[in-house]
Amino acid sequence: MTSSTDRRAPDVYIVGLGIKGIEHITRETESACRRSQEILAVPTLPAGMTYLRNLCDRVTDLHPVSYKEDENRLNAYDTMSAMVLEAALDHPPVTFATYGHPLVYVYPTRQILDAAPYLGLNVKVLPAVSALDTMIIDLDFDPAIDGLQMYEATDLLVRQRPLQTDVPCMLWQVGAVESVLYSSAPNSPERFFRIKDYLLRYYPPEHEVAAVYSSPHPLFEASVVRFTLGDMEQHHDQLHQGLTLYIPPLTRRSVADTDLIARIESVDHLKSITHDRDAL
Ligand SMILES: C[S@@+](CC[C@H](N)C(=O)[O-])C[C@H]1O[C@@H](n2cnc3c(N)ncnc32)[C@H](O)[C@@H]1O
Repeated sequence: MTSSTDRRAPDVYIVGLGIKGIEHITRETESACRRSQEILAVPTLPAGMTYLRNLCDRVTDLHPVSYKEDENRLNAYDTMSAMVLEAALDHPPVTFATYGHPLVYVYPTRQILDAAPYLGLNVKVLPAVSALDTMIIDLDFDPAIDGLQMYEATDLLVRQRPLQTDVPCMLWQVGAVESVLYSSAPNSPERFFRIKDYLLRYYPPEHEVAAVYSSPHPLFEASVVRFTLGDMEQHHDQLHQGLTLYIPPLTRRSVADTDLIARIESVDHLKSITHDRDAL
């Protein structure tokens, strides 16, 4: 990865296209795309490809060449990262562009970053708008209040990760839970039996959760479908692979450190944990 002291020009830019069509693309990302000999992309909508074609003569859509029905998604990620690395060795610089943020649940980014040093390739990753950013708006919530826990849905089940019911929870890839195989088939109620049972260990059946799908296009509104946990599988046809399940906190954690809470508004306490500005 490019460090602040690394003066070499990047061979690979890894960028995110954001969530809402092309509206979220940053100027930094746009200029990396313009500098590239090829953009290899996984956008959500065809409009993304049209836009990228205005920035670079050579744009490759990785989706149709990578994903194969009923095959392990890891194979698709191997194909994507191999194609990006091959292009970077042949005609640098190139850009790998995914939707959302390129380091939020994007395994090929990890593969490219891990392999690049062995191939002598210099990689620069740029920040972007993630579904995390858009869901914060759609749900109108601030993680400063009670924190935030987020997990990949299958990983939650496989590792039986403990949940904190006083902390808001986001479950990613819930529509693809229980399988690493790629599938465009609609979900059956059965897909959600196990995860519902797991969540019921922590939350009561009447707890209201929300399936959140942030707008992928300026003409669409975000979709926030609320239902009680006990009814989860009945919403199988709405729980598609693009959305995230939000579980609001069940309880509020009370203050445990009464000594600290008594000090947080005290000027004397603040002075005891800071330097005198003039003494510096
Ligand atoms: C492979 S990950 C890609 C995440 C993406 N890199 C990002 O930064 O948002 C796909 C998962 O991201 C979440 N996601 C993607 N787009 C979303 C959207 N428009 N609204 C809500 N969640 C979304 C869902 O949990 C989905 O299963």
